[in-house]
Amino acid sequence: VLSTILSSLSSEVTNTKHLPQAIIIGVKKCGTRALLKFLSVHPAIAASSTEIHFFDSPKHFPLGLDWYRNQMPIADTKQHVTIEKTPHYFVDKRTPKRLARLLPDVKLILILRDPIIRAISDYVQIKNRHESYPTFDNFVSMENFTKWTPIRIGCYAIYLRRWLKYFPLEQIHFVDGENLIHRPWEELESVQRFLNVSNHIREEDFYFNMEKRGFPCIRQPNGCLGSSKGRQHPTISGQTREKLKHLYSNCNLQLKQLAQIDFPWL
Ligand code: A3P
Repeated sequence: VLSTILSSLSSEVTNTKHLPQAIIIGVKKCGTRALLKFLSVHPAIAASSTEIHFFDSPKHFPLGLDWYRNQMPIADTKQHVTIEKTPHYFVDKRTPKRLARLLPDVKLILILRDPIIRAISDYVQIKNRHESYPTFDNFVSMENFTKWTPIRIGCYAIYLRRWLKYFPLEQIHFVDGENLIHRPWEELESVQRFLNVSNHIREEDFYFNMEKRGFPCIRQPNGCLGSSKGRQHPTISGQTREKLKHLYSNCNLQLKQLAQIDFPWL
């Protein structure tokens, strides 16, 4: 009996919740869930299973850092990195300033993918909820299509510029969301280095699941993402693609310069 009491007391002391050392701040539909899932198998990482929405929520933010800490997963003594993901942070105007004030040393992870594919993915998610939604081509043929959120978010430079007012570039790690699908271990290697944890998640930990449209899964129970990830995308017309290519070429150029990255799709 005594040993049970002692062991439960000691686990209370050692298993605690910590404010995050790292946050995946976005971008929505670029593979944020996949990255978090893969990182969660690392023995030094405690990953939150839900999106917390602290900095961007008028309801949660006034509850303060104690509330935020309490939403975090319990970390054991080996887990010295706690991480959460809330992709909406990237586009939320208030978040960069709030985050810089409350967690100035936090490491930021930003996943970016080809903005055309990201826009289609965002569209598919909305269409799933609203069956009568027009086609993607219909939207892009409208006069003010650049104001449509799935399109606007893909001009990543607009949002990144806001973050760089509060955080130095070295504090942000950029993940190539296209490579995360094809060679996830390469992206994981640099994320693990950025987080200062061992290179634990490697190529042999992945397999490609043909039932999941060829997306990578991690070798462990429930190692694939659920049915809301890796959805079928509609084909879009050549005209739509050209219009978007033209729109995003300037945004991508600005992004390359701001972030000092050169992903193949940029
Ligand atoms: P689709 O479902 O449109 O293909 P997020 O988690 O940020 O919402 O991103 C969702 C996207 O992550 C998916 O969009 C998919 O393309 C991509 N993705 C990246 N790696 C994945 C994986 N291992 N399994 C499933 N989807 C993955």
